[in-house]
Amino acid sequence: MINGGKMKRKNIIEKIYRLREEWKYDFYECVQDIAEHPVVLRMKLYPHHGTTNCYKHCMNVAYYNYQWCRFFHLDAKSAARGAMLHDLFLYDWHTHAEKTGDKFHGLTHPNTALKNAEKFFELNKIEKDIIYSHMWPVTLFRFPKTKEGFITTLTDKYCGACESSKRRKREKRREK
Ligand SMILES: [Fe+2]
Ligand SMILES: [Fe+2]
Repeated sequence: MINGGKMKRKNIIEKIYRLREEWKYDFYECVQDIAEHPVVLRMKLYPHHGTTNCYKHCMNVAYYNYQWCRFFHLDAKSAARGAMLHDLFLYDWHTHAEKTGDKFHGLTHPNTALKNAEKFFELNKIEKDIIYSHMWPVTLFRFPKTKEGFITTLTDKYCGACESSKRRKREKRREK
């Protein structure tokens, strides 16, 4: 009985890994034009959480969005494309307040990212919702209106936490 349970779990885990591997290529096809756009590539210049830059962070969120939304039979393509643009604010937020006096980057950057994204890409309702509401619940009244938008509020925080903790681990190793 225990062996049967273990086998079942092993099969499920193997299936998830197999799907992740297969979906990896489908994912990149969905975001390729955005990921290779010169304005989006500029995100590589701006540091974000931990040792990542804005581009890497957006790619991480887009990847997890795609996997989760496809798993739940939602609009995985829009989820990935919206996430790829969700932090397209194009400045270093670490020095932004000092340079511009805008002390509320956490609240204002979704709007900036949306304006920038709309200049270069045709966005659908889901993609706009993902960008505009991804900081919820920090932005109290900007509750996501789509399921894909809600998933992004989770994947964004999950990726941010992983990226920051990677840096802390690296710093601890250096101290030893
Ligand atoms: Fe953000
Ligand atoms: Fe983000």
